[in-house]
Amino acid sequence: MSPTRRTPAASRVVMTEIVLPADTNNYGTIFGGRLLALADKCAAVAAIRHCRQPVVTASFDRVDFLRPVKSRYFVILTGEVTATFRTSMEIQVTVEAEHPERGERETTCLARITMVAIDEHGRPVTVPPLECDTEDERRRAERAAERRRQRLERRDLEAF
Ligand SMILES: CC(C)(COP(=O)(O)OP(=O)(O)OC[C@H]1O[C@@H](n2cnc3c(N)ncnc32)[C@H](O)[C@@H]1OP(=O)(O)O)[C@@H](O)C(=O)NCCC(=O)NCCS
Repeated sequence: MSPTRRTPAASRVVMTEIVLPADTNNYGTIFGGRLLALADKCAAVAAIRHCRQPVVTASFDRVDFLRPVKSRYFVILTGEVTATFRTSMEIQVTVEAEHPERGERETTCLARITMVAIDEHGRPVTVPPLECDTEDERRRAERAAERRRQRLERRDLEAF
């Protein structure tokens, strides 16, 4: 694959962390906030890989924590740009927990994050369009466009 092609796969980021006691709550499972911080970081790297510009987080969609993740487990975050618009990008981050000895994995969380590319003054700048190779990727990008419409509608309704 040519390095200049801006496909979802070209933006893909895989981050692996081990859950340490300092990451956990009183029940020995990872803090939700810690997972969100990792998801934010994973999404930022995927977005920067796509546009090769600095980015800021504009929005996090609703995030559901499906299962607790215990201390000593590995968390594997996989991030990928799912759609691009004018200056913003939607990134999907999937979080899996891996048992350290048995190697079994299960999905614990899915987050959709909007990142905006900015210039040196913090002003939004245009990003290169995403090149979808498969029908699945194209459908995913179409669904992302509908989510973007809803996000902006919510933002305008809830403006304070
Ligand atoms: C995100 C930010 C750059 C947007 O700037 P802005 O002046 O509102 O600019 P615009 O209205 O032109 O929006 C720029 C893009 O952001 C998108 N955007 C803005 N708010 C959004 C939201 N709540 N949800 C999703 N997308 C949003 C717009 O749709 C637009 O995308 P598009 O060009 O692809 O259509 C600005 O609000 C900001 O700097 N926010 C703080 C970011 C931050 O500190 N993040 C945490 C640390 S990284």
